[in-house]
Amino acid sequence: MPTEREHRRVTVEPGGPILIDGPVQVQLPDGTTARSDRFVVAVCACRRSKRYPFCDTSHRKKIRDD
Ligand code: FES
Repeated sequence: MPTEREHRRVTVEPGGPILIDGPVQVQLPDGTTARSDRFVVAVCACRRSKRYPFCDTSHRKKIRDD
């Protein structure tokens, strides 16, 4: 786990999640905190994940334009 002065790597995937070196705590607007101990955490940037704030690969699904 990085110390306070070390930099975490954050990678923005075009059209996909934001990858952050874990573990992470994500503070949500409703005041709750989501935690993940994964080595790399995929945070949803498309807001379609059923596991929000974490990516569930829903960003890969095509949206029907009926
Ligand atoms: S970025 Fe993957 S589900 Fe939103």
